[in-house]
Amino acid sequence: MPRVDFVLQGKAAVVPAGTSLLEAAALAGMAVEGNCGGKGTCGKCRVKLAGNGNGGPIAAEMKHLSAQELAEGWVLACRRSAFSDTAVEVRLQKDASGRKAALKRDKSGPAPSPGVSKIPVALPRPGTADQTPDLERLLVRLPGRNLRAGLPVLAGLPRTLREAGFAVTAVLAGDKLIAVEPGDTAGRIFGLAFDIGTTTIMGSLIDLRSGAVLAVEAASNPQAVYGADVISRITHASGNAAGLAQLQKKVTGALNKIIQTLLEQAGVNKDEVYEATVVGNTTMSHLFLGIDPTYLAPAPFVPAFRRPVEAEAALLGLEMHPGGRVLVLPNIAGYVGSDTVGVILATRLDKRAGACLAVDIGTNGELVLAAGGRLLACSTAAGPAF
Ligand code: FES
Repeated sequence: MPRVDFVLQGKAAVVPAGTSLLEAAALAGMAVEGNCGGKGTCGKCRVKLAGNGNGGPIAAEMKHLSAQELAEGWVLACRRSAFSDTAVEVRLQKDASGRKAALKRDKSGPAPSPGVSKIPVALPRPGTADQTPDLERLLVRLPGRNLRAGLPVLAGLPRTLREAGFAVTAVLAGDKLIAVEPGDTAGRIFGLAFDIGTTTIMGSLIDLRSGAVLAVEAASNPQAVYGADVISRITHASGNAAGLAQLQKKVTGALNKIIQTLLEQAGVNKDEVYEATVVGNTTMSHLFLGIDPTYLAPAPFVPAFRRPVEAEAALLGLEMHPGGRVLVLPNIAGYVGSDTVGVILATRLDKRAGACLAVDIGTNGELVLAAGGRLLACSTAAGPAF
């Protein structure tokens, strides 16, 4: 299989013969701009073939590249494929993620109301007069009658209890026992908040006891290699057998990189992160959850779901506590997503006096008008306007 070297970045990918250079860049972890999703119509995916000649320009390149660029050897990465080892020069665009991460935050948000709680307990040790099984010994001392424990918790329970001298902390998510930790760890309970934008992903690490934001990180959405806008992403997800899985893997990979940075910045272990709340436009929510977005694109623009979705972190491949809870907030409609719900919650739009307009200018732009006890929302493709 040919190897594609991205010489300026020191990155490489070994790919099946015939793979486009745009796809090879994505496999090498490089976000080359590809606004049209590889159709050869946007002219954004410019790269330079280092070394050997490129066989002369093709029609799409003559249309989108200047005479000077053509003379210098620039080509369109989505129109060129690797059949042998290839060296490529890419000049990556600076993105807005750094600026977004540095934005000042309103600290007057709501007090945290985590869906996960920690309860330290000291259990009596078993003996010949008390042969109660370990799980029952623990559950009877926790609030709630119908608590459930997953197999991973149960598997480690006997050893954890004995090594901790039967002094442990139970971690509960609703009626589910998601972890049993040695000693009293009630002081450490962390959560993540993600806003998955079409272009940029923002992540925050939050102390769920105080609500303090401990670290913030942003990254470009690597799905951009399949197109800059939601329609291109939906087309990729529905038009290729592996398309949906590719898009989901891209966004999960980006979230995990953000998580790693946040944890390092704050000195927190991934197993201490028990909850993640995720918002995004309706297409991003579908792609993050691996749900087919096909029918969002054509009229009547029907999403697969609107209500909130909850899943275990391990199921979504997020690098936090595997039994942790991931909550995707509800969407409003096909093109007004849970990120707008986040705007309404964060600004308390529904509680403000008089008429008030919230404007979220992103690749997709949303507006919400609050007046007379009603909220009206709509959206438009804002990115191209700028
Ligand atoms: Fe290559 Fe648009 S021209 S991605």
